[in-house]
Amino acid sequence: MGQSSQQIWPNRLLRNFTVQNSMTDKLDDRALDRLFRTARTRNAWTEQAVTEQQLRELYDLMKFGPTSGNCCPARFVWVRSAEGKSRLAALAAPNNAPKILAAPVTVIVGYDLDFAEQLPKLFPARGKDMQAYYSDPLVAQTTAFRNSSLQGAYLIVAARVGTGLRSNVWLQQ
Ligand SMILES: Cc1cc2nc3c(=O)[nH]c(=O)nc-3n(C[C@H](O)[C@H](O)[C@H](O)COP(=O)(O)O)c2cc1C
Repeated sequence: MGQSSQQIWPNRLLRNFTVQNSMTDKLDDRALDRLFRTARTRNAWTEQAVTEQQLRELYDLMKFGPTSGNCCPARFVWVRSAEGKSRLAALAAPNNAPKILAAPVTVIVGYDLDFAEQLPKLFPARGKDMQAYYSDPLVAQTTAFRNSSLQGAYLIVAARVGTGLRSNVWLQQ
């Protein structure tokens, strides 16, 4: 392949990218259906229990979803006990309360405003330098809300395709 005047990347890099980046392969229609086209929000649940191992697998999959500066500000509270479900249901919108009580598990997606403390570990190349940027409370809050919301979306998609679980989701501020 010759190098055209408009080509930005040298052939050597393009070849490596094509060989090494198998993520450029398009998923088949069945996978795309499961991810998006036929994926639906559920409003009722089976009696089947959700195991701790399934929840750990779910977390271990969704945690790789991208966040700005890999800041990963979401914190997850898995509510499984009858007492926890009643407390949560009492705080939820009336149409959501019965679903919380009936679901084998509900996860609260919150965020940690002190997420920047973890940046040196999460983003070794620049995390320490970026901590100053997040010391502004407004920047920290905006970043935490935006990225934890994204992580909530990754959680839904991971539950749909990676665990055999089905989910419902709502947002309460
Ligand atoms: C941010 C967010 C908030 C939602 N809030 C609720 C809710 O309060 N109660 C509920 O039953 N479903 C809730 N849903 C589910 C949506 O109603 C559902 O995703 C939407 O109707 C599209 O349907 P589908 O997911 O089956 O395509 C919410 C979804 C999102 C992403």
